[in-house]
Amino acid sequence: MGNVYVTDHPLIQHKLSYIRDVKTGTKDFRDLVEEVSMLMAYEITRDLPLADKPIQTPLCEMTAKQIAGKKLGIIPILRAGLGMVDGVLRLIPAAKVGHVGLYRDPETLEPVEYYCKLPTDVEERELIVIDPMLATGGSAAAAIQFLKDRGAQNIKLMCLIAAPEGIAKVQEHHDDVDIYIAGVDEKLNEKGYIVPGLGDAGDRLFGTK
Ligand code: PRP
Ligand code: URA
Repeated sequence: MGNVYVTDHPLIQHKLSYIRDVKTGTKDFRDLVEEVSMLMAYEITRDLPLADKPIQTPLCEMTAKQIAGKKLGIIPILRAGLGMVDGVLRLIPAAKVGHVGLYRDPETLEPVEYYCKLPTDVEERELIVIDPMLATGGSAAAAIQFLKDRGAQNIKLMCLIAAPEGIAKVQEHHDDVDIYIAGVDEKLNEKGYIVPGLGDAGDRLFGTK
């Protein structure tokens, strides 16, 4: 079974409160989502392997450390996942970015695919699927399945807020995937929104309704 990591980092929790607040406008919402994504990227990359690298400091030679050539890929689920990309790229700028376009049918709550463009060597990369919201889990589970169908073998999922139902769904369908979350909320409402949540992440990021 994949692990579920819920970060208790004070900076992340502080910023998440502003993200949730209905009074936070589009610009601040976008900036905060980017910042929290960057901070979460710090946590999710904690186990990257290191290799020795000989360097010269101003005083002497030393054996320093560097990331051991791991190939990373970031996969935002469109559209709200786009709001997390720049934050993650600030910490891992060499990562390739693939896109999976999914929207949730408002009646059935089932994910509908409309776009998929991935790095060609997806099977060699450690992939981080990013989406602010893990509600029913249908979108994340489908996106992960697209990646696996194209050969991906090493996948993590990073979300800001999750409902217990969404976590359970991803675990049921993808028990090899670790999940990183900033907050686990109480429940889904009758329209499939996370409660208390933050509302519609895509609309709040892009100023749409
Ligand atoms: C939201 C969110 C997730 C999905 C979560 O996207 O960004 O992708 O819903 O719900 P689920 O876990 O029940 O599948 P939405 O479908 O609203 O599309 P958008 O990002 O284009 O607004
Ligand atoms: N998608 C969102 O944007 N918000 C939710 O609460 C659930 C799905």
